[in-house]
Amino acid sequence: MSTSTTSLVERSARLEVGDIDFKAFADQPLDPDSLRCLRYMCDVESHTICYLREVLATRVHQDPEVTAFLATWGYEEYWHGEALSRVLEAHGRPSAPERAGQLRRSRRAKDQVRLLLFTLGSAVLPDLPAVHMAWGALNEMTTQAGYARLAAKAQHPQLTELLRRIMRQEGRHIDFYTAQARARLAASASARRLTRFALRRFWAPVGSGVMPEPEVRFLARHLFGDLAGQEAARRIDRQLGRLPGLEGLRLVEPLVAA
Ligand SMILES: [Fe+2]
Ligand SMILES: [Fe+2]
Repeated sequence: MSTSTTSLVERSARLEVGDIDFKAFADQPLDPDSLRCLRYMCDVESHTICYLREVLATRVHQDPEVTAFLATWGYEEYWHGEALSRVLEAHGRPSAPERAGQLRRSRRAKDQVRLLLFTLGSAVLPDLPAVHMAWGALNEMTTQAGYARLAAKAQHPQLTELLRRIMRQEGRHIDFYTAQARARLAASASARRLTRFALRRFWAPVGSGVMPEPEVRFLARHLFGDLAGQEAARRIDRQLGRLPGLEGLRLVEPLVAA
């Protein structure tokens, strides 16, 4: 295993929230728009284990370096969902487990089909792991940027500190997926072609496959609709464009502009 992955795995930890004052939200609650974004983010973080199930159904599971990371990734994302859940609960909203249970039961048939597609796709497309790694990098970049935008918009000291800690872990996720994507794309022209095609044709914002369309639109508009948000979107496109074969690909900026 590479030293960078070993270091990522060793540094993996449950998000520290012992000193976050969740009671502060009773005196100074979040505005309704921020709460709406937070509910989306909490649901998506809690859904990570379902994405993990799909990724592990592919040949990605044959690479012990990736599975070592995925084990810690799922753990960290779980605690992100729990931390966001505590903020929602402080506002009298349903907890993450309640919402996650409902969501998964409502998607039972769809999730079975997705699992089948991942399994079959992996059988016929040997370059699929490169797509997964680039896709993961892009999703982690947009997630981290979304948290930064939410902190800037909500202007709540306790939320800002909580999101800062989550963003630090998201930064490590970005590092892993980007390094994996770079190596796999650099090594294979067919991986570059497939990844560019798949991202351009199928990529959609994190959570859009499971959250209702109006929620996806609201989140994109609220967090990325202003000038600072559009600049953040351009930054992500530039960052993604530094990967081999993905030069000049603009995915996030046109989406938020639309
Ligand atoms: Fe997360
Ligand atoms: Fe992450």
